[in-house]
Amino acid sequence: MTATETRQRPPAEQRWAADLALLRERDAAPRPPGWQLSVDAAKRFIVGDPALGIERKFVGDASLIDRALVSLATTRGLLLTGEPGTAKSLLSELLSAAISGDSTLTIQGGAATTEDQIRYGWNYALLVSEGPSERSLVPAPMLRGMRAGKIVRFEELTRCPLEVQDSILSLLSDRVLAVPELGEMAYAVEGFNVIATANTRDRGVNEMSAALKRRFNFETVFPIPDLRTELALVEAEATALLRRSGVPQAPPREVLEVLVTTFRELRSGATDSGDALDRMSAVMSTAEAVSVAHAVGLRGWYLRGEPGDAADIVACLSGTAAKDNPDDLARVRRYLEQQVPRKRGPAWKALHDARFGLPG
Ligand SMILES: Nc1ncnc2c1ncn2[C@@H]1O[C@H](COP(=O)(O)OP(=O)(O)OP(=O)(O)O)[C@@H](O)[C@H]1O
Ligand SMILES: [Mg+2]
Repeated sequence: MTATETRQRPPAEQRWAADLALLRERDAAPRPPGWQLSVDAAKRFIVGDPALGIERKFVGDASLIDRALVSLATTRGLLLTGEPGTAKSLLSELLSAAISGDSTLTIQGGAATTEDQIRYGWNYALLVSEGPSERSLVPAPMLRGMRAGKIVRFEELTRCPLEVQDSILSLLSDRVLAVPELGEMAYAVEGFNVIATANTRDRGVNEMSAALKRRFNFETVFPIPDLRTELALVEAEATALLRRSGVPQAPPREVLEVLVTTFRELRSGATDSGDALDRMSAVMSTAEAVSVAHAVGLRGWYLRGEPGDAADIVACLSGTAAKDNPDDLARVRRYLEQQVPRKRGPAWKALHDARFGLPG
């Protein structure tokens, strides 16, 4: 195994380096200035191209990808919003890898994010001994992206304090960042732009300043609408994760179907047969379903030497579904006791039989 293979999660441009190289080689279409791929090739990197053997990496509306790419070729940033776990971060990573060949210029927004982590900071030992210089400057992702002409990712922008959010206003509109200590103006090179993500469950985009909103095109990323597509994604992702964890077999499809259906019904607050359910306060996203499917496979294999089964789902659900809210655990219990017996098939029966495995 090479170092990249042993990394828990290599960045997109390494994980799919072969796809990027192939697309680059075949790409005859004009590219926006500073881009590594044309808009069409970047789109195929993300939505897949069966003729070239390129897998689909983001499942969703292809027109969203068109709009996102076109928006990034303009001088407005792109803001991806949506429910947690709808692959906003994944999409921003894929877009950066396709456009700049680099998805690592990333700022993680949070309550404690400072301007130093966004624009630039200083190596204080060198600053004291030598004064401000190129050597003592520590460029943060924004300055690095502007100088190199690359996409910068700003994760969870709206979790930052408002005044910190607004610190990117002028560089977004004037495309220049002043470093007064060096008497330097860092002009953004072609290819630079910003992709921000914001989750609708955190402090939402409503509080963003109107000035900052104006500098972004907004795109909403929705959960996957149909069961078949979501099931196929969960199966593919869980199989890949399990292989990395040394587990040769994913849980059988019937078990995954039960898992994905359970997540979808608890998420939407309605069953396939139209019964209303109590909606969960915990996030029951596709991303969560993938991680539960991974855990189910691990349990089966490392505890019993078998593929994961329905009882493993019950054991893994409590940690996802009942994080900070005992009412959610009661909702899951009601689902297992009242809805699951109405469903047909051995995997549903096994899920019902395992209901006492739910803690509490
Ligand atoms: N439409 C989708 N296409 C591909 N993968 C998806 C999709 N929806 C969910 N996933 C799965 O979810 C994971 C991505 O979750 P990601 O962290 O990008 O979501 P997010 O929207 O950024 O969540 P959060 O708001 O919590 O930050 C992917 O690795 C994949 O396994
Ligand atoms: Mg995210």
